Amino acid sequence: MNSYEGKTYHVVTYGCQMNVHESEKIRGILSTLNMLETDDVEKADVVVFNTCCIREGAEDRAYNNIMALKKNKEENPNKVIVVLGCMPQQKEGKYDFSKKLKHVDIVLGTHNTNDLAQYLLKYAITKKRIVDIWEKPKSNLESTACVRDDFVNAYVNIIYGCNKFCTYCIVPYVRGREMSRTPQTIYAEVKDLVQNKGYKYITLLGQNVNSYGKDLKEKTTFSELLSYLCTIEGDFKIKFMTSHPMDLGDDLIKTMKREPKIAKTLHLPVQSGSSKILKAMNRHYDIKHYKQIIRKLKHAMPNISLSTDIIVGFPGETEKDFMQTYKLLKYVKYDQVFAFMYSPRTGTPAAKFENQIDEKTKNVRVNKLLRLQKIIQKDQMKKYFNKTYNCLIKFINGVAVGITDGGKEIYIPNYKFVNQNYFALVKVEGIRNHKLSGVIK
Ligand code: 5AD
Ligand code: SF4
Repeated sequence: MNSYEGKTYHVVTYGCQMNVHESEKIRGILSTLNMLETDDVEKADVVVFNTCCIREGAEDRAYNNIMALKKNKEENPNKVIVVLGCMPQQKEGKYDFSKKLKHVDIVLGTHNTNDLAQYLLKYAITKKRIVDIWEKPKSNLESTACVRDDFVNAYVNIIYGCNKFCTYCIVPYVRGREMSRTPQTIYAEVKDLVQNKGYKYITLLGQNVNSYGKDLKEKTTFSELLSYLCTIEGDFKIKFMTSHPMDLGDDLIKTMKREPKIAKTLHLPVQSGSSKILKAMNRHYDIKHYKQIIRKLKHAMPNISLSTDIIVGFPGETEKDFMQTYKLLKYVKYDQVFAFMYSPRTGTPAAKFENQIDEKTKNVRVNKLLRLQKIIQKDQMKKYFNKTYNCLIKFINGVAVGITDGGKEIYIPNYKFVNQNYFALVKVEGIRNHKLSGVIK
């Protein structure tokens, strides 16, 4: 029996898939204390804020929500509020959790979240505020517990941290240097998820998955890891994110093409269509090289679904630079584009660059890109016609639907089926009610 047994918890998550998965681990840790999950943040006995600092907006949202619990905490002094993750890990963050925000009881960084149970148990005894932020990871990378959000797609970390130091990005400062898990531990986790838990998609996670294995004693490339995981028997597919264009070699394209178990989808952030801006961003590739990778990918896998991240309004971005990004969208025809306005992050080189772009210009540019992408996506519907996709068959509102690797839904109106969550070939035949429709082959 521990002091949290039977009590309730609520986890609030901000940021990327890495954080979503981190929160699954946090929920696993809290459930090992025999706590129960609740949707009600006001009534929960323990609230954990898993924070993100990639842009100012993410920080402001988290801060406002943490502040909104102040009164609730005053009325319920036994409530425990935890803030952890990227925001407290920053050296010069906008919000200082170590001194201010006294209604927060436990403040941790990114490197000690696996020890959350011990911190909670210590707090229950001492009732003293805990602020503990480590410079580097000390405990091992493996966390045993995990309560997953989804029953079809499972996230699996393969590499933590980032060595790239793009000039706009705070991640290397708050997540530390690259650290890969061993192929054996990843293999064991994936095998268990597929063969014992019935997962259909495994999404391998890392800030830069293509850097996988460079730091291991027994060097292993990302392509080798993928090939190894594809030897696991079962009806499943592997996705991965995020890839860096600089490290995406021909070996990965070959492996993706060769292995039926690798989903034909790729998230390949370009950030800008201007080589001048890419240089200032320290991205280590120019736009010619990026386009060449796109051509190779499309040539090897004509049905591939591509997505990207874009930053508009990076310091020094002229109208001409921006229009190069605009043209790139037309050239690649991504299935999805995540466009962000540049947000200066204290401690990163770009925050000190001259020629910062005003918010209004950033806003105009981001909206222009998003409008274009909407038109491209609509136009893209045509590219699916008469093509056959290996889809996950699901039951949505009583109708069979095939989900492509890129997440596109193909309705299969005349199909009577007994089962769902298996893969089958679906041929697209047309559009019905603005949606793709097809038949099982
Ligand atoms: N401002 C705006 N967007 C950023 N990103 C990273 N840092 C910043 C920043 N300072 C975007 C990049 C990255 C995505 C996860 O977030 O596009 O690929
Ligand atoms: Fe940030 Fe660049 Fe590393 Fe991605 S590759 S996490 S954008 S520093």
